[in-house]
Amino acid sequence: MTMITIKINREGKIEKYKVPENLTVLEALEYINREYGANIKFRASCRNSQCGSCALTINGSPRLACETLVKDNMLIEPLRGFRVVKDLIVDREPYYQKLKSIRNYIVRKKLPNGLEEIEESEVEKTKELRACIDCLSCLSTCPARSSSNFPGATVMRQLLRFSLDKRDEEDRERIAFFENLYFCTTCSSCVEVCPMNIKLERAIEKLRELAFKKGYFLEEHRKVRENILKSNRSIPKIKESFLEKAKEFYKAENEKLRVAFFTGCLIDYRNIAVGFDTIEVLLAHNISVYLPKAQVCCGSPMLRTGQRDVAEDLMEKNLETLESLDIDYIVTVCAGCGSTLKNDYKLKNVKDISELLIEFEREYKKLKLRVSYHDPCHLRRGQNVYKEPRELIKRIPGIEFLDSKPQCCGAGGGVRSGVKELAKLLGKRRAKQFRDVDKVITICPFCELHLKEQGLDVINLVSLLKKVI
Ligand code: SF4
Ligand code: SF4
Ligand code: FES
Repeated sequence: MTMITIKINREGKIEKYKVPENLTVLEALEYINREYGANIKFRASCRNSQCGSCALTINGSPRLACETLVKDNMLIEPLRGFRVVKDLIVDREPYYQKLKSIRNYIVRKKLPNGLEEIEESEVEKTKELRACIDCLSCLSTCPARSSSNFPGATVMRQLLRFSLDKRDEEDRERIAFFENLYFCTTCSSCVEVCPMNIKLERAIEKLRELAFKKGYFLEEHRKVRENILKSNRSIPKIKESFLEKAKEFYKAENEKLRVAFFTGCLIDYRNIAVGFDTIEVLLAHNISVYLPKAQVCCGSPMLRTGQRDVAEDLMEKNLETLESLDIDYIVTVCAGCGSTLKNDYKLKNVKDISELLIEFEREYKKLKLRVSYHDPCHLRRGQNVYKEPRELIKRIPGIEFLDSKPQCCGAGGGVRSGVKELAKLLGKRRAKQFRDVDKVITICPFCELHLKEQGLDVINLVSLLKKVI
């Protein structure tokens, strides 16, 4: 029998135990108690991924102990974000109290006369939302919850479930609004760890849509709406825009590809230099660049804040423009635009700039710089793009790369515009994690701007590449 070592964080002290490989974490904990008399306290019941009671922090992420296999040197800790009661058991009581306070049952103001029939389609509508097993992993990983009194994704999921149930007569959107519905940054950390694969950030967006229609919205989000209705951009214009300054087409020498550059609002109206850097970098890779002048805001700020009606108009305008082009790809240099074009428009030919450039074996000039990389949530989790930017940075000779664990900077989901204090707090926490580097690289003008405001020296990947082509 091959034995491996696992580590257990028991009230601040790390204990090491040898256990047979091929056990689940739950079996390993039972083995340790049986063979070593360790008497470690932990919670479990169904042993079959159904009750949610065995969730622990395993190698830094929330996981179910009954379905996770042990690995050598694995670190097992209590679920983060909760008070530890004993060893690996955390206090779930505040969560149950919260459920109680939101009236976690179907509220009937008038009782029906007899049995009510519920159509199958009604049941189907909430199927995914009802799959939750109360493991609390989503709460453990939520940046908004850890920095405010936002109750977390599963509470919002439950409110949406009741809101979609026609028998329920409670004003669920009102409850959600006063439970800080707009504090979620739509970072998708919760989705990444949910063992039931519930699309929690989509549930929150849907709940915001229903809330917005009932008048439960933040004034700042309504102002963004007005900007878009006025100029098709989410921010006001203060100078000549990038699209006004740039040409419509840039032909590359030895053209290998032809792309359309989808700029997004910030590059068009604020970060104009990043726009021109993108063109230069693409041309240097023998990629011709088309700049469709009729492109408008992708709609992400509206979709993320529940204003789908405006987003649909924008979508229609962009699709009309983009679908008429004779191009290989649409390229984005903004995590939010890329994620929206891929996941909401469902366009198949969209690439983040890093996904495109990684395919080219181009040599870069030497640059002596110590850098790190910030993963924009809508690029890492929204588009599964995180290896490509790191690889590109490492290709630059002379660069010293210090990697950083992903963590939301607080700029997304309308939090930067609508819940400024929370955005700042999250931004400051993120900025503090970068030490001893000359620059932090990212591929999102929102993250860039937000982290710069926290005093960090941040540049877009394209601006770094422009220095070395
Ligand atoms: S998307 Fe991010 S901020 Fe929103 S509930 Fe999930 S973990 Fe929290
Ligand atoms: S929503 Fe998913 S992660 Fe959150 S408590 Fe339910 S099952 Fe666990
Ligand atoms: S013991 Fe029930 S989900 Fe793991």
